[in-house]
Amino acid sequence: MRGQGIIRKYKEFLPVNENTPIISINEGNTPLIYSNNITNHISGNFNLYIKFEGLNPTASFKDRGMTLAVSKAVENGAKVIVCASTGNTSASAAAYAARAGIKCVVLIPEGKIAYGKMAQALIHGAITLEIRGNFDDALLLVRELGKREEFEIVNSINPYRIQGQKTGAFEICDSLESAPDMHFLPVGNAGNITSYWMGYNEYKKAGKIKSLPKMMGWQAEGAAPIVRGHVIKNPETIASAIRIGNPASWQLANNAIKESEGAIDSVTDEELLDAQRMLARMEGIFVEPASATGIAGLLKSNDNGQIPPGTTVVVTVTGHGLKDPEIAVENSKVKSVVINPDISSVLNTLEIT
Ligand code: F0G
Repeated sequence: MRGQGIIRKYKEFLPVNENTPIISINEGNTPLIYSNNITNHISGNFNLYIKFEGLNPTASFKDRGMTLAVSKAVENGAKVIVCASTGNTSASAAAYAARAGIKCVVLIPEGKIAYGKMAQALIHGAITLEIRGNFDDALLLVRELGKREEFEIVNSINPYRIQGQKTGAFEICDSLESAPDMHFLPVGNAGNITSYWMGYNEYKKAGKIKSLPKMMGWQAEGAAPIVRGHVIKNPETIASAIRIGNPASWQLANNAIKESEGAIDSVTDEELLDAQRMLARMEGIFVEPASATGIAGLLKSNDNGQIPPGTTVVVTVTGHGLKDPEIAVENSKVKSVVINPDISSVLNTLEIT
């Protein structure tokens, strides 16, 4: 069974009641994949599990928060939801709005979201506004719109988004029957690291786990405001999903890192592209560039001797690689070969005599 959706599964941990309409596309229940090819390759002495969030209905982790945000919006009578997005939030909002039969307006940075994500917003029927500016500019406009009665914001400044996304931590603990020792993930607007930390803490309070993981957040070097400690006016990275210079949940992310005795650091575009290729080649898991940031961070931490032997590590890979096929084709570093339709052409090309 694909799963019943995160609201039905985890309702006792979520702010819902019997009057809340459940707008779900059976999100969640994503696989936690034991990945020892990478650990063997880097001679790592730890257990690596990858939480593949690209297998959600709109192919990113955003669906966990969106099911709750849209359900609560409908419960409260909202007719229009709105969000700023680097692509995945808009794809998810568009799909859940379609399911709920309400309007969706998305504000995205012009020319800076991956093609697959644009396709999703359009095919689900969202009113799609491309801003001549970046994500941070778009979020300011959305905050402004949110002051009007007509609009319900579904960015992660909507507390239901964080509440829904915390279920990623629940699923990991349910699978491992404990918390991991370290949890790596990419950081953009900083909602997800906040959500996971909330989830782990709630599970500990409920007596379901005994310990908490260190939260290890990773930004792209050209878009690393939290690492640098100041707003980045013109963030730049090939990982368009995390091209953010002024994250909304900045303080909450810092709290998660501090309280968990974790860390936040950055990787270069080259490092995250290498990690994307490595994950695809060695584990068969295809993720978008932003999602490979956590894997690149894991490799860096291992190089620096920061992963104690015997540690259980989880890396959340946040979005599917098919979201951004152009970068994947380029990053594969191989080319297809065009040949004549005869067996000797095949064998010659394969250098088989
Ligand atoms: N990975 C992917 C694939 C994302 O789309 C995002 C954020 C992140 C990581 C970072 O997560 O913002 O919670 O720290 N995408 C947002 C969007 C900003 O609009 O789709 P975060």
